[in-house]
Amino acid sequence: MMAGGGGSAVAGGPALHIPVLGRSAVELLQPRQGGVYIDGTFGAGGYTRAILAAADCSVIGIDRDQTAIALGADLVDQAGGRLTLIEDRFSILDAITRDAGFAAVDGVALDLGVSSMQLDTARRGFSFRLDGPLDMRMGGEGPSAADVVNKASERDLANIIFILGEERHSRSVARAIVKARTDAPFETTRALADTVASVVRSRPNDIHPATRTFQALRIFVNDELGELATALHAAERVIKPGGRLVVVSFHSLEDRIVKTFLVDRSGSRGSSRHVPEVDRPAPTFRTLTKRPVTADDEEIAQNPRARSAKLRAAERTDAAARADMPSNLLPDLPSFADVAGGR
Ligand SMILES: C[S@@+](CC[C@H](N)C(=O)[O-])C[C@H]1O[C@@H](n2cnc3c(N)ncnc32)[C@H](O)[C@@H]1O
Repeated sequence: MMAGGGGSAVAGGPALHIPVLGRSAVELLQPRQGGVYIDGTFGAGGYTRAILAAADCSVIGIDRDQTAIALGADLVDQAGGRLTLIEDRFSILDAITRDAGFAAVDGVALDLGVSSMQLDTARRGFSFRLDGPLDMRMGGEGPSAADVVNKASERDLANIIFILGEERHSRSVARAIVKARTDAPFETTRALADTVASVVRSRPNDIHPATRTFQALRIFVNDELGELATALHAAERVIKPGGRLVVVSFHSLEDRIVKTFLVDRSGSRGSSRHVPEVDRPAPTFRTLTKRPVTADDEEIAQNPRARSAKLRAAERTDAAARADMPSNLLPDLPSFADVAGGR
């Protein structure tokens, strides 16, 4: 089930994941002959296939999910030495590039969030529709969603669910979770979905009442915002002058991080009479998308997940990468240690 970006299912067989905004992403990445590109979110390989098809170039595909890397083995064989797959986090994409034997790359693509393969596999615990263990980890490491809901204080739970899920009823949800876990710890997605549904009402055509709470826990468990911010900084260090960065996000907080970073790095904050021209660092990126690219009606009809997608792209200048990052990039959230301690 590949669409949008074109291509066929990895290793044949049934559809695994429909790439969102794949065509626009690869057009903006502009793969060129002999170039080296990082696909930081390999998933079912939709973006990688399209990059390899666009030019006689090489791709380093990264995914923290062991299953995605294993399923990509056939594509590695088909690519005839042009594809290397690495199981790791994209936040260290600069170290991965060096370990792969390259000093720099011609482009980095990130297609954020989870894949349909992850959502549709009950035992991964991402879905409130399928009953499974309450896990939600993309890689195998770190605390699971069950650890978070069973250990976090009511206040931390409410903050996580409010900030990362934009759930208006976050306090009621946190209260209901804390009450329910005194009887028995949460172990399954169904138990959590039922508890949330007991306090969040929804009308017949609304999204499932647990949608926002599940989204918040998934983003928290996988430190998705921290990973993104660190990856943008790593991409600045590793992309060659003239090379490109393309990021597709599905959540307003992710898009805000990408936008804030690119505004900071492209010097497009507007000039200020309080900051002398000479003190402002040289732009490290030139923004290619004044407004984010979004999916058209046809793509949304084929793949409803495309509805919330936003693509931003930029071209690396020849200015040196900066050491600092904008201070307001990440929301104020409890740490894993806070949560484990149930403070
Ligand atoms: C939306 S899917 C990508 C789909 C892919 N573009 C395609 O066309 O098949 C996102 C993938 O990124 C992976 N991922 C998410 N965050 C990651 C991170 N911080 N490091 C590495 N992989 C990550 C997920 O495991 C998932 O497989």
